Amino acid sequence: MKNYEHLGVLFADHLRKFNSSLEVKTPAELYQPCNYILSLGGKRLRPLLALVACELFGENPNKALDSALSVELFHNFSLVHDDILDEAPLRRNQPTVHLKWNRNIAILSGDALLVKSLQVLNTYPPEEASKLSELMCTTAMQVCEGQQLDMNFEKQNSVSIDEYIRMIEYKTAVLLGCSLKMGAINARANSMQQNDIYTFGVNLGIAFQLLDDLLDAFAQNSELFGKRPGGDILANKKTFLLLKAIALANVTQKKEIASILALPGETGHEKINRMLQIYNDLGIKTYCEQSADAYTNAAIASLNGIQADPGKKKHLHEFANQLLNRQV
Ligand code: IPE
Ligand code: IPE
Ligand code: MG
Ligand code: MG
Ligand code: MG
Repeated sequence: MKNYEHLGVLFADHLRKFNSSLEVKTPAELYQPCNYILSLGGKRLRPLLALVACELFGENPNKALDSALSVELFHNFSLVHDDILDEAPLRRNQPTVHLKWNRNIAILSGDALLVKSLQVLNTYPPEEASKLSELMCTTAMQVCEGQQLDMNFEKQNSVSIDEYIRMIEYKTAVLLGCSLKMGAINARANSMQQNDIYTFGVNLGIAFQLLDDLLDAFAQNSELFGKRPGGDILANKKTFLLLKAIALANVTQKKEIASILALPGETGHEKINRMLQIYNDLGIKTYCEQSADAYTNAAIASLNGIQADPGKKKHLHEFANQLLNRQV
């Protein structure tokens, strides 16, 4: 987005330097996959949030560059391992690390990215570094818990919408909150400001994952989406879409859903198309959009109360709206 272009450029340069240092490291089998996943781009949302928060609380965003690097490294670690868990073939329109190399390489290079995400925080003075690492470690454990719940739910017949929201809060939303809070810590914001920006991030993150689930089923432009469409349906993921469909279905539709869930993932298109038919018949897309809007509005409401420059808050407000309107 235009207001944040300078921050995108700042981070791209920082990441490029870090990434080119990986090119010469050995053993290459460990570092090349790290370099590969980082070079595939992505939206770079989390590092941007760290820089935005630092600037929002009146500090030069350069101060948050290593926090930004840390959260992007952690995010990429989580994607490499997530793609193993989800058996995903495609990430950012390219083969996933475990398919391009193999599973063991993906596990180990993911581990390396995780360790690096903590190590880069040691460039800060000890007291600041320790606050940042503690936040990062708490967040990382929540992400692991969220990912485990996501897998448990694949096999669990009954999952409530509340349980689903808690799962996506952990697997996705807390990292957005963490990114913003790290930038706030770098800017020496007070603890109320840190907590408020964190809450904003968590609500934004819940809306973000609702939209990710929606796009997984309904992405119009699969190249822009960059992942295999329908992956969540094939894996019986208990997404908002499925849970809402189960809640609204009549007896016949409930039977159809049960028989779709019983189909093996290898049935591919048949499984996806039959589930999409149910989603369309029940108007599930609109319910999902409404729920994402509600979380975006909650985020924006918490943003209003934050002690910070009104002009900068307005930019963040606009950014939140744009992010959640992304159409692919
Ligand atoms: C993908 O995150 C994983 C989710 C939490 C939905 P992004 O959609 O931010 O992935 P990239 O970094 O832009 O590829
Ligand atoms: C990802 O959730 C959450 C983490 C990576 C921790 P998804 O499994 O929905 O993410 P995508 O769709 O593969 O990017
Ligand atoms: Mg997953
Ligand atoms: Mg996945
Ligand atoms: Mg997804």
